[in-house]
Amino acid sequence: MRVKHAAFVLSAPSWGALPAPTAPEVAFAGRSNVGKSSLLNALLGRKQLAKTSGTPGKTQALNYYAVNPNPQGHPDVFLVDLPGYGFAKVSKSQRARWQQLVGRYVTERAEQGTLRAVVQLIDARHPPTALDEELLAIMLESPAPHLIALTKADKLSSNQRQQAVAGLRKHFEPYGLELPTVLTSAEKKQGLGELWTWIDTVV
Ligand code: GTP
Ligand code: MG
Repeated sequence: MRVKHAAFVLSAPSWGALPAPTAPEVAFAGRSNVGKSSLLNALLGRKQLAKTSGTPGKTQALNYYAVNPNPQGHPDVFLVDLPGYGFAKVSKSQRARWQQLVGRYVTERAEQGTLRAVVQLIDARHPPTALDEELLAIMLESPAPHLIALTKADKLSSNQRQQAVAGLRKHFEPYGLELPTVLTSAEKKQGLGELWTWIDTVV
């Protein structure tokens, strides 16, 4: 898919605020600060469409971005920035709310046929953390296909990058999980073509 035009559509803080399920959606999940908004901006070819910050937990709603919307606003696909998972400073009840909203989103929207895929972002510099694993367990309740995007690959040497991919494969092997994995860098615009190709196949 070639991005001719991209636009922010809406920010949904609750289930009732989600748009009508009229176009395919691909969701981006990951713990706070992993680089979701940055990767979305890179994919959409825009610098500041999705807000990024050094402050974790900035995104607390589901943010919808339309790719190639027609004059009626109907896009080829919506990319959906999910609120960051496991932000240390949120309360227990906020965390429960997150689980309720995002858990329901990834299962029900997929069952509806609207959510076509989930991309989970994991920092390429470290093995998956307990938070990454908790999030993966929630995401795997969704029937939608999954892909792992390793982020901030520009911070690694080429040797370390290969080790990161191999390490991840090894990490998930005992769970019988073979998830397609793409190395990405929003900074260096790496892995974007590969991600789009995968998105095209699910959309
Ligand atoms: P929340 O919305 O808080 O959940 O965070 P997020 O996952 O959207 O992360 P965001 O895109 O805001 O990026 C967090 C920090 O990581 C920022 O300081 C970014 O500049 C930095 N960052 C993101 N992607 C990359 C990358 O590819 N390379 C490098 N070097 N830094 C990155
Ligand atoms: Mg963000």
